[in-house]
Amino acid sequence: MKQEILRLKKEMGAVILAHNYQRPEIQDIADFLGDSLELAKISKDLKEKVIVFCGVRFMAESAKILSPGKKVFLPVLDAGCPLADTITPDELIKFKQENPGAWVVSYVNSSAEIKALSNACCTSGNAISVVKNIPAKKVIFVPDKHLGSWVQKNVSDKEIILWEGFCYVHELFKEKDVDEAKKRHRGAVIMVHPECREEVQEKADFIFSTAGMLKKAAELSRETFIVGTEEGLIYRLKKENPDKEFYSLASAKVCTNMKRTTLADLHRALTKGEYKIELSPEIIE
Ligand code: 13P
Ligand code: SF4
Repeated sequence: MKQEILRLKKEMGAVILAHNYQRPEIQDIADFLGDSLELAKISKDLKEKVIVFCGVRFMAESAKILSPGKKVFLPVLDAGCPLADTITPDELIKFKQENPGAWVVSYVNSSAEIKALSNACCTSGNAISVVKNIPAKKVIFVPDKHLGSWVQKNVSDKEIILWEGFCYVHELFKEKDVDEAKKRHRGAVIMVHPECREEVQEKADFIFSTAGMLKKAAELSRETFIVGTEEGLIYRLKKENPDKEFYSLASAKVCTNMKRTTLADLHRALTKGEYKIELSPEIIE
């Protein structure tokens, strides 16, 4: 199956991008791995015209928005992000009317329609700098409330109005998990994703996007790391840092949508050209 995928990929002139939460066998076969920001940048800069995106829909849509001339395929049609689904375009239009004068910053974990209704878009890797740099004092931040409140703490001269969305995977990490992990692994470095609850963030040593966690783990000479994010990242952390130890903050938390893509799906995506991401030119613009 792997050999067939590599052969088909070459034949089609395609590039396989995969998010850090993908299954190990998908991570191993991908040309590029990354967080949302890295994958968006890579997809824009690629010279190849065909991208197979192993991740969830909003990521493949972002690649299409940034490279409208390329063909972008999502191997599993309904691999979505429940966080992105917590706000509809009608709800955002109403929220904007209720908060006149505010700029809308949407987290990349949102649909293309939500992005089209926003003034700016950010990822967890650049949310603070995006909000700091927009020319507005009042900001509507959608859809993740935990990421939004973390941004608020780091950008004190702006007022951030939060949408009450959250990620069901990161929400599973609780404050007591941090206390217990600290007792289990004394001296370990605790890194959590900004989609985690506020009380979990407060007890962590670092708050990072998945790429930020990879960078920090490589940089620090410490041996043991506790990781508060989807379990797929731990595979990559271990692979790239074989001399260090990585543990999930609590029992492994799984994003079932991220895990939907199998080698068989990837193979089918390349053979049948499924599923092509189509967005209207107005939305892309
Ligand atoms: P990153 O951009 O940090 O990889 O996060 C993506 C995501 O979906 C987090 O749940
Ligand atoms: Fe969406 Fe959460 Fe899965 Fe990330 S981990 S893709 S935010 S559901």
